[in-house]
Amino acid sequence: MNDALLALSKRHAREAAHLHREGIGTGFLSSLGKAFLRQLYSAIPSCPSAFGYVWQEPDGEVLGFIACAQSVGKMYKQALWRRGVWMALILARFVVRPGIVRRIWHTLRYPSQVGDDLPSAEVLSIAVSEKARGKGVGKALMQAALAEFARRSVARVKVAVWSENETANQFYLKCGFRLAITREHHGLPMNVYVIDVK
Ligand SMILES: CC(C)(COP(=O)(O)OP(=O)(O)OC[C@H]1O[C@@H](n2cnc3c(N)ncnc32)[C@H](O)[C@@H]1OP(=O)(O)O)[C@@H](O)C(=O)NCCC(=O)NCCS
Repeated sequence: MNDALLALSKRHAREAAHLHREGIGTGFLSSLGKAFLRQLYSAIPSCPSAFGYVWQEPDGEVLGFIACAQSVGKMYKQALWRRGVWMALILARFVVRPGIVRRIWHTLRYPSQVGDDLPSAEVLSIAVSEKARGKGVGKALMQAALAEFARRSVARVKVAVWSENETANQFYLKCGFRLAITREHHGLPMNVYVIDVK
């Protein structure tokens, strides 16, 4: 594996949260704030069902990350068990906003709603710093993730992305994913891609 690729660990949580907000700023998780994302990316490395990688330069700068779940449903349960109190405290301010509470509930229920024909393994998020895009960092992160899925004997993986995110849709196709379905999520069209892991 490339020297710049490292397993996502708790110490990368701040950078992963920052890259997530910077790159996927219009996403629902971003709207929950950097503190929530930081808790999520702190939890992921300690969840048996989840893993991730970062691309870290020799000077320590993190230029990209990918986060994955072998089973999204299990990952949410494991993350809530590990960081649930902190997450709940951070999310408490949204109690007065029923729309957001509904979307959190919808997001937590989404793994059980995606349909039997779609795999439970998923690429949850990937983002590369704007200045480092188009240089193969994203693809290297994806290849590392797919190798880890293969090591875990996962046969198929999905990824969900807003239909309007042209760059990411092209990126997933270039990485070998194929479009499985387009469905509505939080009121917007979302493409779900799948790939067979070799
Ligand atoms: C999507 C993203 C991770 C791609 O990372 P990247 O490091 O720029 O991608 P790479 O340089 O590794 O490119 C891999 C392939 O995708 C293609 N690709 C990347 N950006 C593209 C674009 N804007 N249009 C068309 N193809 C593109 C590349 O041409 C390359 O194809 P190749 O293997 O045939 O050469 C990056 O653009 C990003 O962080 N976007 C914002 C966050 C986001 O939208 N994440 C996805 C939603 S979860």
